[in-house]
Amino acid sequence: MSSTEERDDLVLQPRDVRFDWARLPMHWIPDEPMATHVINVLHLLLPEGERWFVRTFQEVLPLITDEELRERVLGFTGQEAIHAEAHQGVLDHMEAHGLDPAPYVRQVEFLFHRVLGPRPGRTGTRQREDLIERVAIIAAIEHFTAFLGDWVLNAEGLDRAGADPTMLDLLRWHGAEEVEHRSVAFDLLQHLDPGYLRRVRTMAIGGPVLVHLWIRGVRFLMTADPQLVAAARPTWRGYAQAAGRGLLPRLGNFLHSGSRYLKPAYHPSQEGSTRQAVAYLGSSPAALVAAH
Ligand SMILES: [Fe+2]
Ligand SMILES: [Fe+2]
Repeated sequence: MSSTEERDDLVLQPRDVRFDWARLPMHWIPDEPMATHVINVLHLLLPEGERWFVRTFQEVLPLITDEELRERVLGFTGQEAIHAEAHQGVLDHMEAHGLDPAPYVRQVEFLFHRVLGPRPGRTGTRQREDLIERVAIIAAIEHFTAFLGDWVLNAEGLDRAGADPTMLDLLRWHGAEEVEHRSVAFDLLQHLDPGYLRRVRTMAIGGPVLVHLWIRGVRFLMTADPQLVAAARPTWRGYAQAAGRGLLPRLGNFLHSGSRYLKPAYHPSQEGSTRQAVAYLGSSPAALVAAH
Protein backbone atom coordinates (compact mmCIF):
# COMPACT_ATOMS: atom_id res chain seq x y z
CA MET A 1 0.00 0.00 0.00
CA SER A 2 1.42 3.38 -0.99
CA SER A 3 1.52 6.38 1.32
CA THR A 4 -1.47 7.86 -0.52
CA GLU A 5 -3.78 5.04 0.52
CA GLU A 6 -3.39 5.32 4.27
CA ARG A 7 -6.74 6.96 5.14
CA ASP A 8 -9.02 5.31 2.62
CA ASP A 9 -11.21 3.90 5.40
CA LEU A 10 -12.08 7.29 6.86
CA VAL A 11 -15.73 8.20 7.49
CA LEU A 12 -17.05 10.57 4.84
CA GLN A 13 -18.53 13.71 6.37
CA PRO A 14 -20.50 16.30 4.42
CA ARG A 15 -18.97 19.65 5.45
CA ASP A 16 -20.98 22.82 5.61
CA VAL A 17 -19.40 25.65 3.60
CA ARG A 18 -20.14 29.29 2.88
CA PHE A 19 -18.95 31.28 -0.14
CA ASP A 20 -19.49 34.98 -0.75
CA TRP A 21 -19.44 35.71 -4.49
CA ALA A 22 -20.25 39.43 -4.21
CA ARG A 23 -16.78 40.48 -5.37
CA LEU A 24 -16.07 37.73 -7.88
CA PRO A 25 -14.90 39.24 -11.19
CA MET A 26 -16.17 37.70 -14.45
CA HIS A 27 -12.63 36.67 -15.35
CA TRP A 28 -11.53 35.37 -11.99
CA ILE A 29 -8.14 34.38 -13.39
CA PRO A 30 -7.04 37.93 -14.29
CA ASP A 31 -6.62 38.50 -18.07
CA GLU A 32 -7.26 34.81 -18.75
CA PRO A 33 -10.83 34.59 -20.06
CA MET A 34 -10.37 31.27 -21.83
CA ALA A 35 -8.77 29.47 -18.88
CA THR A 36 -11.44 31.02 -16.61
CA HIS A 37 -14.23 29.65 -18.80
CA VAL A 38 -12.63 26.22 -19.23
CA ILE A 39 -12.86 25.87 -15.45
CA ASN A 40 -16.26 27.60 -15.35
CA VAL A 41 -17.76 24.69 -17.31
CA LEU A 42 -17.68 22.87 -13.97
CA HIS A 43 -20.36 25.26 -12.68
CA LEU A 44 -22.56 24.44 -15.69
CA LEU A 45 -22.21 20.66 -15.42
CA LEU A 46 -21.87 19.91 -11.74
CA PRO A 47 -25.13 21.08 -10.15
CA GLU A 48 -27.24 18.86 -12.46
CA GLY A 49 -24.60 16.12 -12.66
CA GLU A 50 -24.10 15.79 -8.93
CA ARG A 51 -27.84 15.86 -8.21
CA TRP A 52 -28.08 12.96 -10.68
CA PHE A 53 -25.33 11.12 -8.76
CA VAL A 54 -27.38 11.57 -5.58
CA ARG A 55 -30.65 10.36 -7.16
CA THR A 56 -28.94 7.35 -8.71
CA PHE A 57 -27.18 6.31 -5.51
CA GLN A 58 -30.40 6.69 -3.51
CA GLU A 59 -32.06 4.40 -6.04
CA VAL A 60 -29.27 1.84 -5.73
CA LEU A 61 -29.29 1.63 -1.90
CA PRO A 62 -31.60 -1.45 -1.77
CA LEU A 63 -29.08 -3.39 -3.90
CA ILE A 64 -26.19 -2.85 -1.45
CA THR A 65 -25.60 -5.83 0.83
CA ASP A 66 -22.44 -4.52 2.54
CA GLU A 67 -23.27 -2.26 5.50
CA GLU A 68 -19.94 -0.41 5.49
CA LEU A 69 -20.23 0.34 1.77
CA ARG A 70 -23.78 1.59 2.33
CA GLU A 71 -22.45 4.06 4.95
CA ARG A 72 -19.79 5.29 2.52
CA VAL A 73 -22.40 5.69 -0.23
CA LEU A 74 -24.55 7.77 2.14
CA GLY A 75 -21.51 9.93 3.04
CA PHE A 76 -20.78 10.34 -0.68
CA THR A 77 -24.33 11.51 -1.47
CA GLY A 78 -24.21 13.98 1.43
CA GLN A 79 -21.00 15.51 0.03
CA GLU A 80 -22.23 15.62 -3.59
CA ALA A 81 -25.50 17.34 -2.60
CA ILE A 82 -23.52 20.16 -0.96
CA HIS A 83 -21.15 20.42 -3.97
CA ALA A 84 -24.13 20.87 -6.31
CA GLU A 85 -25.47 23.75 -4.21
CA ALA A 86 -22.06 25.44 -3.95
CA HIS A 87 -21.63 25.51 -7.75
CA GLN A 88 -25.23 26.63 -8.19
CA GLY A 89 -24.24 29.77 -6.24
CA VAL A 90 -21.67 30.63 -8.95
CA LEU A 91 -24.25 30.08 -11.71
CA ASP A 92 -26.61 32.51 -9.99
CA HIS A 93 -23.76 35.04 -9.71
CA MET A 94 -22.96 34.70 -13.46
CA GLU A 95 -26.57 35.33 -14.34
CA ALA A 96 -26.67 38.44 -12.15
CA HIS A 97 -23.64 39.76 -14.08
CA GLY A 98 -25.11 39.39 -17.55
CA LEU A 99 -24.00 35.87 -18.50
CA ASP A 100 -27.18 33.80 -18.71
CA PRO A 101 -26.21 30.11 -18.39
CA ALA A 102 -29.80 28.85 -18.92
CA PRO A 103 -29.55 27.72 -22.59
CA TYR A 104 -26.65 25.38 -21.83
CA VAL A 105 -27.96 24.27 -18.44
CA ARG A 106 -31.26 23.22 -20.10
CA GLN A 107 -29.29 20.80 -22.31
CA VAL A 108 -27.46 19.44 -19.27
CA GLU A 109 -30.80 18.97 -17.48
CA PHE A 110 -32.12 17.02 -20.48
CA LEU A 111 -29.06 14.77 -20.40
CA PHE A 112 -29.24 13.96 -16.70
CA HIS A 113 -33.03 13.72 -16.38
CA ARG A 114 -34.12 12.20 -19.71
CA VAL A 115 -31.13 10.42 -21.25
CA LEU A 116 -29.57 9.21 -18.00
CA GLY A 117 -32.65 9.13 -15.78
CA PRO A 118 -34.53 6.01 -14.70
CA ARG A 119 -36.39 4.30 -17.57
CA PRO A 120 -40.08 4.09 -16.72
CA GLY A 121 -41.55 0.71 -17.53
CA ARG A 122 -38.36 -1.24 -16.91
CA THR A 123 -38.60 -3.83 -14.17
CA GLY A 124 -36.65 -6.74 -12.74
CA THR A 125 -33.30 -7.61 -14.35
CA ARG A 126 -33.51 -4.88 -17.00
CA GLN A 127 -34.12 -2.24 -14.35
CA ARG A 128 -31.18 -3.53 -12.29
CA GLU A 129 -28.92 -3.61 -15.36
CA ASP A 130 -29.90 -0.07 -16.26
CA LEU A 131 -29.13 1.10 -12.74
CA ILE A 132 -25.72 -0.61 -12.61
CA GLU A 133 -24.85 0.93 -15.97
CA ARG A 134 -25.53 4.37 -14.48
CA VAL A 135 -23.35 3.52 -11.45
CA ALA A 136 -20.56 2.56 -13.89
CA ILE A 137 -20.87 5.90 -15.70
CA ILE A 138 -20.64 7.67 -12.34
CA ALA A 139 -17.52 5.63 -11.42
CA ALA A 140 -15.90 6.74 -14.72
CA ILE A 141 -16.80 10.40 -14.08
CA GLU A 142 -15.53 10.14 -10.49
CA HIS A 143 -12.18 9.03 -11.86
CA PHE A 144 -11.96 12.38 -13.62
CA THR A 145 -13.29 14.43 -10.71
CA ALA A 146 -10.55 12.87 -8.55
CA PHE A 147 -7.99 13.65 -11.27
CA LEU A 148 -9.18 17.27 -11.39
CA GLY A 149 -9.31 17.49 -7.60
CA ASP A 150 -5.73 16.29 -7.29
CA TRP A 151 -4.71 18.71 -10.06
CA VAL A 152 -6.34 21.77 -8.48
CA LEU A 153 -4.94 21.03 -5.02
CA ASN A 154 -1.49 21.25 -6.61
CA ALA A 155 -2.17 23.96 -9.24
CA GLU A 156 0.28 26.61 -8.04
CA GLY A 157 -0.06 28.33 -11.43
CA LEU A 158 -3.51 29.54 -10.34
CA ASP A 159 -2.00 31.16 -7.22
CA ARG A 160 0.79 32.73 -9.29
CA ALA A 161 -1.76 34.15 -11.75
CA GLY A 162 -3.67 35.85 -8.90
CA ALA A 163 -6.85 33.76 -9.26
CA ASP A 164 -9.74 34.89 -7.06
CA PRO A 165 -9.18 33.36 -3.60
CA THR A 166 -12.86 32.48 -2.98
CA MET A 167 -13.09 30.62 -6.29
CA LEU A 168 -9.81 28.86 -5.57
CA ASP A 169 -11.19 27.79 -2.21
CA LEU A 170 -14.39 26.45 -3.83
CA LEU A 171 -12.35 24.46 -6.34
CA ARG A 172 -9.91 23.13 -3.74
CA TRP A 173 -12.54 22.33 -1.10
CA HIS A 174 -14.56 20.46 -3.76
CA GLY A 175 -11.43 18.90 -5.26
CA ALA A 176 -10.29 17.71 -1.84
CA GLU A 177 -13.64 16.00 -1.17
CA GLU A 178 -13.45 14.41 -4.63
CA VAL A 179 -10.04 12.98 -3.72
CA GLU A 180 -11.34 11.95 -0.30
CA HIS A 181 -14.33 9.98 -1.68
CA ARG A 182 -12.69 8.87 -4.95
CA SER A 183 -13.08 5.14 -4.25
CA VAL A 184 -16.78 5.06 -3.33
CA ALA A 185 -18.40 4.89 -6.79
CA PHE A 186 -15.77 2.41 -8.03
CA ASP A 187 -16.16 0.17 -4.97
CA LEU A 188 -19.94 0.32 -5.42
CA LEU A 189 -19.55 -0.72 -9.06
CA GLN A 190 -17.27 -3.62 -8.06
CA HIS A 191 -19.85 -4.66 -5.44
CA LEU A 192 -22.65 -4.74 -8.03
CA ASP A 193 -20.64 -5.94 -11.04
CA PRO A 194 -16.98 -6.92 -10.61
CA GLY A 195 -16.68 -7.55 -14.40
CA TYR A 196 -14.19 -5.60 -16.49
CA LEU A 197 -16.31 -5.13 -19.62
CA ARG A 198 -18.79 -2.65 -18.14
CA ARG A 199 -15.95 -0.52 -16.75
CA VAL A 200 -14.30 -0.29 -20.18
CA ARG A 201 -17.56 0.28 -22.04
CA THR A 202 -18.75 3.12 -19.82
CA MET A 203 -15.36 4.87 -19.89
CA ALA A 204 -15.14 4.47 -23.67
CA ILE A 205 -18.51 6.23 -23.98
CA GLY A 206 -18.44 8.51 -20.94
CA GLY A 207 -14.91 9.93 -21.47
CA PRO A 208 -15.52 11.30 -25.01
CA VAL A 209 -19.03 12.55 -24.06
CA LEU A 210 -17.53 14.46 -21.14
CA VAL A 211 -14.87 16.04 -23.41
CA HIS A 212 -17.56 16.95 -25.96
CA LEU A 213 -19.74 18.57 -23.28
CA TRP A 214 -16.73 20.49 -22.00
CA ILE A 215 -15.81 21.88 -25.44
CA ARG A 216 -19.42 22.91 -26.07
CA GLY A 217 -19.52 24.51 -22.60
CA VAL A 218 -16.39 26.62 -23.20
CA ARG A 219 -17.71 27.77 -26.59
CA PHE A 220 -21.06 28.64 -25.01
CA LEU A 221 -19.51 30.62 -22.15
CA MET A 222 -17.15 32.59 -24.39
CA THR A 223 -20.02 33.51 -26.71
CA ALA A 224 -22.36 34.43 -23.83
CA ASP A 225 -19.72 36.43 -21.89
CA PRO A 226 -20.75 40.12 -22.25
CA GLN A 227 -17.16 41.22 -21.53
CA LEU A 228 -15.74 39.42 -24.59
CA VAL A 229 -16.01 40.44 -28.23
CA ALA A 230 -18.35 38.32 -30.33
CA ALA A 231 -15.41 36.76 -32.22
CA ALA A 232 -13.75 35.34 -29.07
CA ARG A 233 -13.30 31.58 -29.53
CA PRO A 234 -11.44 28.96 -27.54
CA THR A 235 -8.54 27.26 -29.35
CA TRP A 236 -6.46 24.17 -28.62
CA ARG A 237 -3.34 26.30 -28.93
CA GLY A 238 -4.73 28.68 -26.29
CA TYR A 239 -5.52 25.69 -24.07
CA ALA A 240 -1.98 24.30 -24.40
CA GLN A 241 -0.48 27.69 -23.60
CA ALA A 242 -2.68 28.10 -20.49
CA ALA A 243 -1.77 24.56 -19.40
CA GLY A 244 1.90 25.48 -19.87
CA ARG A 245 1.37 28.35 -17.40
CA GLY A 246 -0.15 25.89 -14.92
CA LEU A 247 -3.70 27.30 -15.24
CA LEU A 248 -5.28 24.12 -16.68
CA PRO A 249 -4.37 20.42 -16.59
CA ARG A 250 -2.15 19.30 -19.46
CA LEU A 251 -4.13 17.33 -22.04
CA GLY A 252 -1.52 14.57 -22.06
CA ASN A 253 -1.95 14.11 -18.31
CA PHE A 254 -5.73 13.99 -18.72
CA LEU A 255 -5.56 11.34 -21.45
CA HIS A 256 -2.99 9.34 -19.51
CA SER A 257 -5.25 9.45 -16.46
CA GLY A 258 -8.17 8.10 -18.55
CA SER A 259 -6.02 5.22 -19.76
CA ARG A 260 -5.08 4.26 -16.18
CA TYR A 261 -8.77 3.63 -15.46
CA LEU A 262 -8.70 0.86 -18.07
CA LYS A 263 -5.91 -1.10 -16.40
CA PRO A 264 -7.38 -4.32 -14.96
CA ALA A 265 -5.63 -3.73 -11.60
CA TYR A 266 -6.83 -0.10 -11.32
CA HIS A 267 -8.19 1.16 -8.04
CA PRO A 268 -8.91 4.85 -7.31
CA SER A 269 -6.91 4.70 -4.06
CA GLN A 270 -3.78 4.65 -6.28
CA GLU A 271 -4.65 8.18 -7.48
CA GLY A 272 -4.15 11.42 -5.52
CA SER A 273 -3.37 11.84 -1.82
CA THR A 274 -6.00 11.48 0.89
CA ARG A 275 -3.58 13.04 3.36
CA GLN A 276 -3.25 16.19 1.25
CA ALA A 277 -7.03 16.35 0.72
CA VAL A 278 -7.85 16.03 4.43
CA ALA A 279 -5.19 18.64 5.27
CA TYR A 280 -6.81 21.11 2.86
CA LEU A 281 -10.28 20.41 4.25
CA GLY A 282 -8.98 21.25 7.72
CA SER A 283 -7.85 24.70 6.53
CA SER A 284 -10.43 25.65 3.85
CA PRO A 285 -11.65 29.22 4.57
CA ALA A 286 -15.22 28.38 3.46
CA ALA A 287 -15.38 25.39 5.82
CA LEU A 288 -13.88 27.39 8.70
CA VAL A 289 -16.38 30.25 8.22
CA ALA A 290 -19.30 27.82 8.24
CA ALA A 291 -17.99 26.08 11.36
CA HIS A 292 -18.02 29.31 13.44
FE1 LIG B 1 -18.54 16.58 -6.14
FE1 LIG C 1 -17.52 13.06 -6.38
